[in-house]
Amino acid sequence: MSTHLDSWRELPAAQQPDWADLSELATVTAELAKQPPLVFAGECDQLKDRLAAVARGEAFVLQGGDCAETFAGSTADAVRNKLKTLLQMAVVLTYAASVPVVKIGRMAGQYAKPRSKPGEIRDGVELPAYRGDAVNGFDFTPESRRNDPQRLMRAYNSSAVTLNLCRAFTKGGYADLRQVHAWNQDFVAQSPAGRRYEQLAGEIDRALSFMRACGANPNEFHDVEFYSSHEALILDYERALTRIDSRTGLAYDVAAHMVWMGERTRDLNGAHVEFMRQIHNPIGVKLGPTTSADDALALMDRLNPKGEPGRLTFITRMGADKIRDALPPLVQKVTENGAPVAWVCDPMHGNTFEAPSGHKTRRLNDVINEVAGFFEVHRSLGTHPGGIHIEFTGDDVTECVGGAQEIVEDDLHQRYETACDPRLNRQQSLDLAFMVAELYGPSTAAAG
Ligand code: PEP
Ligand code: CO
Repeated sequence: MSTHLDSWRELPAAQQPDWADLSELATVTAELAKQPPLVFAGECDQLKDRLAAVARGEAFVLQGGDCAETFAGSTADAVRNKLKTLLQMAVVLTYAASVPVVKIGRMAGQYAKPRSKPGEIRDGVELPAYRGDAVNGFDFTPESRRNDPQRLMRAYNSSAVTLNLCRAFTKGGYADLRQVHAWNQDFVAQSPAGRRYEQLAGEIDRALSFMRACGANPNEFHDVEFYSSHEALILDYERALTRIDSRTGLAYDVAAHMVWMGERTRDLNGAHVEFMRQIHNPIGVKLGPTTSADDALALMDRLNPKGEPGRLTFITRMGADKIRDALPPLVQKVTENGAPVAWVCDPMHGNTFEAPSGHKTRRLNDVINEVAGFFEVHRSLGTHPGGIHIEFTGDDVTECVGGAQEIVEDDLHQRYETACDPRLNRQQSLDLAFMVAELYGPSTAAAG
């Protein structure tokens, strides 16, 4: 049956895999369409409310996780380490900047990647590019690089496993604020950011004891609202997981609470914009340095014609050297137009370069510089710097250079594990959180 939910099929869809077997794709998507939802429409609406608060200047988004999640990476340890890092960053921001933090993982569904070239050549051999575990394998062999529709079902299952862990960790006591020290236990001794965090955790402990003594012990201290998100890239997958909400009769993509469109797939006349137009989740759009103000306005018009608060988040990824010039005209025009959007800064994707060793990397200083530029622009225009979107992991990888541990280009080979772009490690993520807290608020709690 074809409905408006399939209208995207008539339009050019960028970055779709050339599947090895189309009848297999049809079988798998029919199977996916019968699977239970991963998230509920009511939860998506709640996130939309939170993002509406961000657009009003009352909250801050912390969105992050791997560039590309892998099936092998959906272990309890790896998921816990990522969540722990996200929780620590959120605590730093909430306490030191005194702002409510909306926590959104690039987790439980981030299995598909856009690529600059469809193929990859090594030693004269050409194979399809790695497009994420939802499509093919990372190993450079013909078997592994086959674009295999069965992988979409594994993407669904790995999303379910990861989201289940996230829900358990954030609702089951692990995210209780009384655990602020425990999250840091394996970390504090060897790192400056860990010691700085420990000092802040001590202050939080004293504040909690004070509040308990006063008789206040609200639920918010015991568990955490956590939301999932990924790039809605493979439209056959997202469509198969789109359902009609029984309460409202509206369509929601139940593969994640929030989905976003990448810089390479946000063509106004393309299939991705058409698909995203039909679903009622909160959605994001990446905006790179070549985006014109008119592009941004046209996207707002198409994706949020009624100006619903919280529906649309613009995730800018300009590059540290461009943001101070490229962002102001966009923010100005969009603000004049009147419809509310949340502005989030992705300081990763405009700052990637290749080290002499051949590793794709990023400098923490460039990341910090782009975030600082984002704050400067919004402060000068009187608009709200609404959040950050980052690629990080909870493990001590060596993929980005810089930070208090002073990782240099020659260190990159030591623990370079990403399946796609270089991620901040735990130390670098915490360094960034302290820096953002300083930029955000007048409070200098636990600085130094
Ligand atoms: C990403 O977020 O991993 C990505 C590919 O970003 P962009 O679309 O902004 O290049
Ligand atoms: Co990336």
